[in-house]
Amino acid sequence: MARAGGVNPHDVDILLADVTGRSPAWLFAHGEEQIDPAAIEKLVGRRMRGEPLQYILGRTEFFGREFFVDDRVLIPRPETELLVETAIARAPRDARVLDIGCGSGCIAISLERERPDLLVTSIDVSLAALAVARRNARTHGSRVLFAASDAFDAIHGGFDLIVSNPPYIPAATYEQLATEVRDYEPRGALTPGPLGTELIERILAGQRAPVVLLEIGFGQIEDVRQVAGGYEITEVINDLAGIERVVVLSRHGRK
Ligand SMILES: C[S@@+](CC[C@H](N)C(=O)[O-])C[C@H]1O[C@@H](n2cnc3c(N)ncnc32)[C@H](O)[C@@H]1O
Repeated sequence: MARAGGVNPHDVDILLADVTGRSPAWLFAHGEEQIDPAAIEKLVGRRMRGEPLQYILGRTEFFGREFFVDDRVLIPRPETELLVETAIARAPRDARVLDIGCGSGCIAISLERERPDLLVTSIDVSLAALAVARRNARTHGSRVLFAASDAFDAIHGGFDLIVSNPPYIPAATYEQLATEVRDYEPRGALTPGPLGTELIERILAGQRAPVVLLEIGFGQIEDVRQVAGGYEITEVINDLAGIERVVVLSRHGRK
């Protein structure tokens, strides 16, 4: 990520390609072409002030699909693909799946597109995020059902599987994040409170599914164990960086 005040040349290439409608490879092969500098200057200026490239472009790629993003939603992270892969592999046929904290809709839409047999519901407490998720669902012809809910407050009944990439950063750690993240991405998507486990605890206390798949933060596994309640951790899956990233929790007494 670039510091505010500096900008990575690779980002400039991507912005130039976006403005001209050409690929970075075409631009490289046609260095003699002239373009109107005004448009590119504006975009590079935004980047230099620290705005994430994905918000400037209005899109990012996740699990092989393009998702619209703006500052109403967290930018989907590559490590979250591991949660989707795990859900695709674990969800029983025709299962009712609940995704908690839809953001851009990247998890729910990817899961439903890869496993059309699933009945996927996805909720968020943020109405602004839900608007972005619904737009992405339309783009991808997805049948995910979206609803506004603070955890389970507006949700009745049970599910076969819950997946969630909740806000999990403790408030004090959040204050030390790169300004690019803190100043641009929604606070409520990143931190749930002082402990980091506040929403995780509510999800597990709800006991709404026999199996819950969670993305967690670096070194957070013991904190999750403390709030697991009626669940036990049955598997922990590392991401490509070797960090414990996805936790599988099963209700006590279930495999
Ligand atoms: C880490 S973001 C994940 C977004 C998206 N699923 C992804 O992986 O990119 C967490 C999301 O949870 C939502 N959220 C935070 N607190 C919530 C709550 N109490 N109930 C429902 N959603 C909540 C936030 O608005 C945010 O969209």
